[in-house]
Parts: sequence; structure tokens; C-alpha cells
Amino acid sequence: MNMTMKMTVAAAMLLATTGLARADGPSPIEMRQVGMALMSGDFAGIRAVIAAKGDVKTLENPLKAMQRWATLMPSMFPKGTETGGNTKAMPEIWSDSAGFAKASAALGDATGVMMAAAKAGDADAVAAAVKGIGDACGACHKAYRAK
Ligand code: HEC
Repeated sequence: MNMTMKMTVAAAMLLATTGLARADGPSPIEMRQVGMALMSGDFAGIRAVIAAKGDVKTLENPLKAMQRWATLMPSMFPKGTETGGNTKAMPEIWSDSAGFAKASAALGDATGVMMAAAKAGDADAVAAAVKGIGDACGACHKAYRAK
């Protein structure tokens, strides 16, 4: 084999291994943690707009993202991801999956309450809905996330 051929073979092998890594897909544990971190940022931004007495209509998009995430959340904890990485997921997510689904739905409902207020342009009602969302985060963390 001459030098050029050796390099071509090496490049082909590299491509093959990269392809394999891709086929594995992203880590579900990291995906859900990133999703949670993004949602947390979303919620912080929403509270900042409320505190600054900003335009609550602009909250519709971040609230929509939170609602979609709440709907998706139960599926972000597939079997086989009970442990691994630095996950803080508690075993109750799988042993009490109905309860976990309920806790996800509670977040969806709470964001829905704020969404309705934001759509109506009712700043007071938007501000009043913060607690409901915060409670939904806290209730689930208490039951299903390790300290
Ligand atoms: C239905 C349950 C549930 C709800 C509702 C929920 N969380 Fe979580 N959250 C979890 C679990 C479980 C983890 C740990 C995930 C892991 O480590 O695999 C987590 C992790 C997090 C993390 C850490 C992410 C990281 O970087 O590892 C943050 C931040 C967070 N949640 C914020 C929030 C906020 C803010 C809300 C409400 C707007 C919320 N969560 C609502 C279950 C929930």
C-alpha cells in the first residue's frame, strides 16, 4: 500500500467509526437534563419579564415550549436510563410511572393557566400563575429527583 492508499483506508475507517457513534444517537440522560436546564432558563426569563412589567404577550412562545416539554417529559425517561451519567432520576419514576405522568401533566396544566392569561394580555393573572408552575416543578422534584 502506498501512502495515499493508507491515508484513504484510514479516512474510511474513521468515517465508519464516526458513523457508528452517530447511530447510537444522543444520550437520553443528557438530553433530558439539557431539556430541564433550558426549561429552567425559560421560566427564569418569564419571571424576569413579569418583574420588569414587560409585555406578557411575548411569553406565549416560551410557555408553548414549556407545555411541549411537559407533554414529552415522561418519554424522556425510557427504560434503561434508570442509572448512568450523573442522573438524579429516582427509581420511583419507573415504579410509579402513573404518578410521574401526573406530575408532568400538572406542569402542563400550570403552564396552560399562564398561557391563557398571557394570550388575554392579563399581566396580573400571568403574575399570579407563577406560583402554580413553581409548585409543579417542586412537587415533581421532591418525589422523583434525588437531592
Ligand atoms: C414530572 C417531573 C418534573 C417536573 C414537573 C419538573 N422537573 Fe425538573 N427534573 C426532574 C427530574 C427527574 C430531574 C433529574 C433528571 C436527571 O438527572 O436525569 C430534573 C432535573 C432538573 C434540573 C437539572 C438539570 C441538569 O442540568 O441536570 C433543573 C434545572 C430542573 N429540573 C428544573 C425544573 C423546572 C424549572 C421545572 C418547572 C418549570 C421542572 N424542573 C419541572 C423532574 C421534573
